[in-house]
Amino acid sequence: MSDGTLENYRSLHGLPELAGVADLAGAGGPGLGVQECVDRLKCFHYALQRVWQVLLTRIACEPIYELKMGYSYHAYLAAEHITLLRDRVAELRHPPLGLDKVPDDNLEAFFDEIRNAPDRERLMEGLYRVALPALRESMEAYREQTNPLTDAPGLRILRVILPEVEDMISWGEKSCAALEAASSVQREDPLEWKEELRGWLAASGGLAGTGDRGDPPSQRYSAEEFHYDSTPKRDERFPDPYNMGVHAEEFLYDESFESRDKVFMMFYKRLREIDVPEMMASILYEMVTESGDEGEGKRPWGFYRDMTRQLWDEARHAMMGEVGFARSGIDWPSKVMINFTWSKGLNEQLTPRERHAVLWFIEQGLMSKTGKRYEWEVGADSGDDFAQLIQDFDWADEVLHARIGRDWYVKDFETVAEAAAYGSACWDKVVSDWEQWKADGLTEHHNWWPDLYREVCSYRGEEPDPRVLAFDRSYAETRADLQRISASG
Ligand SMILES: [Fe+2]
Ligand SMILES: [Fe+2]
Repeated sequence: MSDGTLENYRSLHGLPELAGVADLAGAGGPGLGVQECVDRLKCFHYALQRVWQVLLTRIACEPIYELKMGYSYHAYLAAEHITLLRDRVAELRHPPLGLDKVPDDNLEAFFDEIRNAPDRERLMEGLYRVALPALRESMEAYREQTNPLTDAPGLRILRVILPEVEDMISWGEKSCAALEAASSVQREDPLEWKEELRGWLAASGGLAGTGDRGDPPSQRYSAEEFHYDSTPKRDERFPDPYNMGVHAEEFLYDESFESRDKVFMMFYKRLREIDVPEMMASILYEMVTESGDEGEGKRPWGFYRDMTRQLWDEARHAMMGEVGFARSGIDWPSKVMINFTWSKGLNEQLTPRERHAVLWFIEQGLMSKTGKRYEWEVGADSGDDFAQLIQDFDWADEVLHARIGRDWYVKDFETVAEAAAYGSACWDKVVSDWEQWKADGLTEHHNWWPDLYREVCSYRGEEPDPRVLAFDRSYAETRADLQRISASG
């Protein structure tokens, strides 16, 4: 079609042409062919797979709570983007998908360098200041070069992915700047490291392999084998991580206490859920790499997608608890001792499949009358609209998690009873030696509840109720059913 023809072409009544997806000049111009689209989408897919995987390796061992939560969110976003890209590639005359294939050795080395980065600063520089901006740039080039009519479905998924990649970069940029400002140590200039990483990208012809190829730099960190550290770590706001001194459920289920006081035990239970992403990240990472599960091997992608969604939900539950304390004027780090004993015990003592069994076993228990409905009722009865709101969604999320458990755990068993028996047996295997921790000086199992309650009362401008103040039940005193009731949900 010549330009002259386009100028004379009119839609009926001047209605928007081409369903609004493009104008005639754009749609009548050149574009990327199917094979070229597939090649590039596969590179985006590979990059996001690696970003997702690198984030999983740091969720447990990164001590800073805000970073742990940010990584959990970004792992979820990456998993969603991976799903969209997989589905799109499958639409492009492309079975078998070949999505496991590494598109370029230098691109692989680029991500290996980032994964093996020896500290938080270099990891974040690599991920948020090099890898994700390179992904954005490649996706923007794709958006500009593909034909808006022939590839309208491809453009549509980029309209979902690109703004979220932008959000990830922006969070990473702010986080890097905040860490730099807070650091008193003069660090090695990261410029050289970033230049090296860009050298790896250049050696693969850019992230999507569309440019000229330079010579690769020499390996800095990727020459060494990567060792995954699944041991949970926490920052200084978690000073007593072995503390099992406050039995939240005993207070929560005691009919004689008031809902308005119980919500603070629920905020504690929510915030304590930091341990679930720490544990789930280890399931996902170790099952992907096939290293940790006695040869169990990889699962279908739907498993990773659903489980990463759940991981993010659990991170959100923790943050709901944080907000609950913050908006009640409670300085939680000095008042509430959030432990990590559950994620530490499971990550250190069980295989990924056994951890998944324990997770499902706990969560199916939350669907009973004393589970999520009860917590929502406490929220509703408390007069605290926020407590009611978060428990409403916590409950809804838990119903989704029960579905995920049915799809990816229970279906491996003949009956639900067998699935439950295995989950229970796996949990019984976990040794949590409260007395030993005390003997080793790791904790005193201090009862922090009275101090928290006093702060709640001072915020309310009320005198503490002596009966509530006197609540003193430790997990360690209820040994028989200890493990069952001290778990996160
Ligand atoms: Fe859950
Ligand atoms: Fe949860």
